[in-house]
Amino acid sequence: MLQNIQLVIDTAIADAYYMGKILYPENFKDIEPEKKINANHIPQTCGESENVSIFCDRVYWKAKTAMVMRSIDGKGISYSYAFEGSIDLSLDDVSICIAQGEMVAILGHNGSGKSTLVKHFDALLSLQKGSLKVAGLDANNTDRIWELRKKCGMVFQNPDNQFVSSIVDEDIAFGLENYDTPIEQIPSKVSEALALVGMSGFEKKSPHMLSGGQKQRIALASVLALEPEIIVFDESTAMLDPEGRKEVITTIRRLHDNEHKTIILISHYMEEAVFADRIYIMKNGRILAQGTPREILTDQVLLAEARLLPPLPVRIYYDLQKAGIILRHCPLTEEELVEELCRLN
Ligand SMILES: Nc1ncnc2c1ncn2[C@@H]1O[C@H](COP(=O)(O)OP(=O)(O)OP(=O)(O)O)[C@@H](O)[C@H]1O
Ligand SMILES: [Mg+2]
Repeated sequence: MLQNIQLVIDTAIADAYYMGKILYPENFKDIEPEKKINANHIPQTCGESENVSIFCDRVYWKAKTAMVMRSIDGKGISYSYAFEGSIDLSLDDVSICIAQGEMVAILGHNGSGKSTLVKHFDALLSLQKGSLKVAGLDANNTDRIWELRKKCGMVFQNPDNQFVSSIVDEDIAFGLENYDTPIEQIPSKVSEALALVGMSGFEKKSPHMLSGGQKQRIALASVLALEPEIIVFDESTAMLDPEGRKEVITTIRRLHDNEHKTIILISHYMEEAVFADRIYIMKNGRILAQGTPREILTDQVLLAEARLLPPLPVRIYYDLQKAGIILRHCPLTEEELVEELCRLN
């Protein structure tokens, strides 16, 4: 019995730790919370502030978890595109919890269910099974779908499919008008959104004359003008050249760091997930694992199971290891790799 209680507490602490929101006393600093947690376990501690006891090293520590608001709170979501009663599930009992202001990457092989999952977040797909709250709104409540879509914006893969006007400022204004924004507020909201994506001065340009990266930043400005809490990027860099990808990722990171937006990033580029706070891995419509980028992206066995390749610096680390060259730490970025290589004699 005591063991069970202890396990629950450890898991709650581990979850709060993963959400990056745990406040712990000085002398708790060096204690590593449980590394492995059930991927489908929903953090009980987020959304509430409470005192918990942690049994560690034969001592009970008191810890206080911080108040964490949930941007996404989904439990037991299943979805089938096929007819009712079909067992062909594109999502199979998925639970996912994303804290406000978190940047979460969702990775997985083609067809693993990433897009199907995020399409539930802005009610492009309606829930068949399970429960989902998005920015506190029940995704099942059809009366508030437009409110939900305003709170959760989406940027898709193809930059050319996201424009309705041939002039940048009119395109951004279109979304604002749809949401009944008072006409006198529209110019300032358009300017603010363009400034946030570093595209001030492009108001009168045609989106079709812009580079891929610039087009995606305009598409993002249209979303930002509505002041969403959550922004989902579904492979928004997939069709861009390296320069365009860099532009978009830099903008996304700025929105996370400075504007504290909740960011959900789907990408096939592992190096883009390195900067996330947490990563979810999907396989066959299920969540296979979740953890920090370091835990997930250096786990060769896990990535192989998900049919994903580790980032290049991680692959180099393991190749060097096979050749008998041991680096002190497994690098995640090129910069870390260079640093580790420079340490070699
Ligand atoms: N409109 C649809 N009709 C029928 N089946 C679909 C539809 N869209 C997706 N699926 C199926 O649902 C499953 C999950 O697809 P989904 O598009 O969510 O995967 P994904 O992880 O986003 O893949 P990708 O990396 O290729 O974008 C796949 O088996 C896919 O074939
Ligand atoms: Mg997809």
